[in-house]
Amino acid sequence: MTVETSSLPHAHEHAAPHGWRRWLFSTNHKDIGTMYIVFAIIAGLIGGAMSVAIRIQLMHPGGTLFQGDYQLYNVFVTAHAVIMVFFTVMPAWTAALGFAPRIFSRRPYPVRVCM
Ligand code: HEM
Repeated sequence: MTVETSSLPHAHEHAAPHGWRRWLFSTNHKDIGTMYIVFAIIAGLIGGAMSVAIRIQLMHPGGTLFQGDYQLYNVFVTAHAVIMVFFTVMPAWTAALGFAPRIFSRRPYPVRVCM
């Protein structure tokens, strides 16, 4: 017997998610690795922009970009360091090692049993 499930109450809640939900709720390790690398790239751009600001300041001792606000300069150095180490390098390694078994293995990918 065939049951028409789409007409049942709440049937839509069990459909595969689309759009940003398709990524946020994914349990597929390749999706998660992709999100890790995208996050690392975005954080790397932010941390890299901060290193440019630091360099511009260091080019002219006495103050250009930070206008003599040494506290703000120190904040930029610390934020650059934290972003680069924890939000760029570590997620990038997590993504790389998550992908590594698939890159270096010739085994077929296992049958996907769930989303
Ligand atoms: C893996 C982590 C890091 C990455 C990928 C990274 C990357 C960079 C890059 C690409 C630059 C611009 C190149 C340059 O100006 O020489 C830079 C500059 C700089 N970084 Fe980092 N950085 C990291 C960690 C840190 C840490 C831990 C600190 C300090 C606690 C730091 C402090 C600085 C400073 C002060 C500059 C300016 C240097 C200058 O222009 O003379 N960075 N960083």
